[in-house]
Order: sequence, then C-alpha cells, then structure tokens
Amino acid sequence: MVWQTRPSEALATLANETFDVVVTDLQMREMNGLELCERVALNRPDVPVVVLTAFGSLDSAIAAIRAGAYDFISKPVELDVLSIAIERAANNKRLREEVKRLRIEAEAETWPRDRELVGESAAMRAVHDLISRVATSEATVLVIGESGTGKDVVARMIHKRSRRASAPFVAVNCAALPEHLLESELFGYVRGAFTDAKENHPGLFVQARGGTLFLDEVGDLPLLLQPKLLRALQERAVRPLGAKSEIAVDVRIVCATNRDLETAIEERRFREDLYYRLNVVQVPLPPLRARGGDILGLALGFIRHFASVSQKNVKGFSKEVGQKLVSYAWPGNVRELQNSMERAVALTRLEEICVDDLPEKIRDYRFSHVVVAGNDPAELVPLDEVERRYILRVLEAVAGNKTAAARVLGLERKTLYRKLERYGVETKS
Ligand SMILES: Nc1ncnc2c1ncn2[C@@H]1O[C@H](COP(=O)(O)OP(=O)(O)O)[C@@H](O)[C@H]1O
Ligand SMILES: [Mg+2]
Repeated sequence: MVWQTRPSEALATLANETFDVVVTDLQMREMNGLELCERVALNRPDVPVVVLTAFGSLDSAIAAIRAGAYDFISKPVELDVLSIAIERAANNKRLREEVKRLRIEAEAETWPRDRELVGESAAMRAVHDLISRVATSEATVLVIGESGTGKDVVARMIHKRSRRASAPFVAVNCAALPEHLLESELFGYVRGAFTDAKENHPGLFVQARGGTLFLDEVGDLPLLLQPKLLRALQERAVRPLGAKSEIAVDVRIVCATNRDLETAIEERRFREDLYYRLNVVQVPLPPLRARGGDILGLALGFIRHFASVSQKNVKGFSKEVGQKLVSYAWPGNVRELQNSMERAVALTRLEEICVDDLPEKIRDYRFSHVVVAGNDPAELVPLDEVERRYILRVLEAVAGNKTAAARVLGLERKTLYRKLERYGVETKS
C-alpha cells in the first residue's frame, strides 16, 4: 500500500506501478478528487477508484461515479465498510483481468488469425530466423510485402513470442479510417474535447500498454498525423485530444506496409524521420511467386483446415491440381491461395480436389504465360525460382514426358525427378 497526500504524486506513482485499488477523498488542495478519478480512468482504466464523499451528499457521489469511480463511501469512514468496498473493487479488477486473459487465449485459438507461418523455402526460413531473433527484443519492426503475403501473421507471431505475449496485441489499420478518426483512435481524447466526445476515450496506444501496437498499412498514415506518431514514439508518451498532460505509454511497435516507403519519401507522402524510427528491423516478405516451393504445403494445410471446419472428408488434391497451383502466379499471394482452397473444399464432391474445383483463372492459367523476369522490380525472383519455372515450362511443352524434358534440359532423369519432387510436383509413389 502506498499512502500519498498529493494527487499529482499519486498519479505519478500510478503511472509506474500496479495497484489493485485507489482510495481518494474528494476535497483536496491541489486537485479535486473528481479530476483525480478522471485522470485515473483515462491513464489507468484497469485500476478501480473508491471515493470518499461527504455524509449524505448524493450529488457528489453521482459526480464521482460519472467521473469514472468504481464505488463511493460516505464519511465518516467506518473501517469495515471501507475494507469491504476495497475488496469488492479489487475483486472486480481481478475478474476483469481474468476475462481479458481468457479473451486473449480464446483469440489465440481461433484460426487462422494466430497461425504460424507455413513454408520451408529459403526465403521463409530466413523470415522465421529473423522473427525469432527480433521477437524478444524491443526493437520496432517494419514488415513489408505485397498484400496477402502474411504481414499480419508475422506481426502476431512477433508479439506472441515476445516478453509482452500476455499483454494486449492491438492492431489498427492506418488506411481504413479518415484522418480525424484515426487520430482520436490512436491517441484518445478526453470528455468534451469535441462535440461527440461524451466520455473519455483512452486510445489505442493506452489500450496496448505493456503489449504491442500493430500499425498496419502504415504507409497510408496521413501526412498530418505522422509528426504526432513520431513524437509518441520518441517520447514514449501520448497526449489525448483535449488533455492537459501526456500519458506515458510503454508499447512495442510493429508496423506493416505494402507500399514502397522510399518512393513515398521522395514524393513527400511519408516523412523520412518517421521512416527511420519505424524501420529499425525490416522483415521483408517475398511474394508467393518467389517461393513457389511453398505453394503445395500451404495448399494442403488450407485444405485440411477447411475440410475439418466444414466437416468434409477432403484429403488432398489431384496431380493436375498440383501442377496448376505451382504454375499459377498468385497475384493475391497466400490470401488468394487460401481463398481458392476454401472454395475448392466447399465445392468438391470427392475426397480429392480436382481441376474443376479451382477458380477459372487458375484452371485456365498456362505456365507459358509466366515470364521468367519482367521489367517490374516486384516481378524479379530468386535464381532457383527461375530454374523451377523453366523446368516446369519445359515439362509443359513436352506434355509431361519426363524423359523428353530431361533431354531438353540436359539433366539426368534422376536429377530431374529429384528437382520435381522438391517442387512438390512429383512424389515418389
Ligand atoms: N506463410 C503462411 N502460412 C500460413 N498462412 C499464411 C501464411 N501467410 C499468410 N497466411 C494466411 O494468408 C492470409 C493473408 O495473410 P495476412 O497476414 O493477412 O497478409 P497481409 O497482411 O500481408 O495482407 C491470412 O489468412 C493468413 O493466415
Ligand atoms: Mg494485412
């Protein structure tokens, strides 16, 4: 227990330590008890406040509850009444924490939001390696990659494996809200800060306290909010709209974007100083077409998942489907693959997905459409991916005749088999 006679000191102590309950008088010199209630409700919404009110003063009791107090007792204080009130408040806090913990656990079990990254390609192994090295640090992480490459999954994995795992993971999509809403969502506001501000709103920085704040699509953060974010990161504090003081926030930042931030900087859409703040550790996620070796493993995982949730007996896919999947270019990346498999599982009448269950786009895709390297830098792929594509292209051209393909490629048949097996096109059976 900490006993303090000055409200400002009490607030400072509260910012740095955890307490079960705050008990306060209403009449105090430097700050009135109602204001203290409001500030605790804003800064430490998790800590209940019990207010001592003058005997028979219903008005001040109501005002205290309005200001966010959990309970009030009237003076003169009887010790057993006080101790019951404190116990009730502390129990309430424990229950709320329990609910929060259960909610987080329940969320962790839902699929696929909290799934792990599937993929054994060199590119994905590098991503895994980076995640495990960076997760336990406090460094700000910038995840970059096209839409559907798994940026959300990476952000959640980093949180789950960090020391902050039991604290909240709060995600906000910077592209989804208009500027003023995003501002009040992120930084919060106090009652009366603007017409609709009927209550104090702590804001996402405060909600994520102790945990991780995931700023998704950070490349779309409105220019006017960028200095405010930069300041929050530098000072590790936020000032809610209309508030007189700043609130210290201990949050780890992970952000993601599918934009090229360096171009955005050149075009003056993104502040360079903010970029350097965010880009401490960069986790690049390659597009699915640059890690073709992962496609079939991913597809099988998705099929098993959707088969089990829809209680259908679907075990896998035909050889032809496998060939279509590895040759398609997947502009929508893993998300597109996942959606296609969900659809196929829903449509199929067999235990094995067949070509007719695939979306037309994929069914009719010819491997010969794949250029090995176009002019778009985003289309450039690793050398072994070029090899994979070329081998598949040759195989297609010789109508799947492996002896002929091996001859064209100048490979031993055994070598060709080994490669095809690695691509998941052909399995020993
Ligand atoms: N490597 C992966 N393994 C398993 N599932 C993945 C993988 N990458 C992405 N997904 C799934 O694909 C979908 C899109 O991923 P998401 O992280 O939302 O992409 P992004 O945020 O980059 O647009 C999600 O449902 C996610 O669970
Ligand atoms: Mg995303």
